[in-house]
Amino acid sequence: MSRGTFITFEGPDGSGKTTQARLLVEWLGDQGYEALLTREPGGTAIGDQIRNVLHRPDNVGMDPRTEFLLYSASRAQHVSQVILPALAAGNVVVCDRYADSSRAYQGYGRGLALEMVEMITGFATQSLTPDITLYLDIPPREGLERRVLGGEEWNRMDAEALAFHQRVRSGYLELAGADPARWSVLSANRPLEELQAEVRAVVSAHRKLVAK
Ligand code: TYD
Repeated sequence: MSRGTFITFEGPDGSGKTTQARLLVEWLGDQGYEALLTREPGGTAIGDQIRNVLHRPDNVGMDPRTEFLLYSASRAQHVSQVILPALAAGNVVVCDRYADSSRAYQGYGRGLALEMVEMITGFATQSLTPDITLYLDIPPREGLERRVLGGEEWNRMDAEALAFHQRVRSGYLELAGADPARWSVLSANRPLEELQAEVRAVVSAHRKLVAK
């Protein structure tokens, strides 16, 4: 099957992923690629409904297993309805958060067993793994401050203690260290144009895109 390229952005809250993902998609379009921008949780009408349940600040009683299964349910719909068809058509898919968010937030952050997270993720994603994962790294305190200053939506995760966000960050760094062929760790603490230039450099060096 001829398959497109699957690129994901990961990072703590407030790392600027969403802007970087959007700029990358615009640039890929200028380069002649058919590029789709999507995000998790959400990305489909069903996924957006699940997203609302996940993000409501008053859903404080949510069990970590419920939380993980909801993210996974949203992801299963997203993969089958949007991502796999776009890749099968040979397109580039850029996703703002994907399964590594569950590994980092529900696995390392909430402390769910990593083998269980892996097993359910494999099922939900039909084992679809990104070709390129860009991890935008920023110390949690700075990221959360950026969100407050930027007046962005404040969700249930943002309200977690700093220690939670620190576990998430070290989880991400561990995942990235274990698979350097897929992951690039980029420091997010600098001007967005500079960061975008590095994002483009990583993406254009990838064998699948070079081949075009
Ligand atoms: P969102 O509003 O998309 O924020 P951000 O701009 O930080 O991406 O909120 C997504 C939140 O959901 C974020 O705090 C991380 C969390 N999340 C998980 O905990 N697990 C997951 O699998 C995903 C996709 C997101």
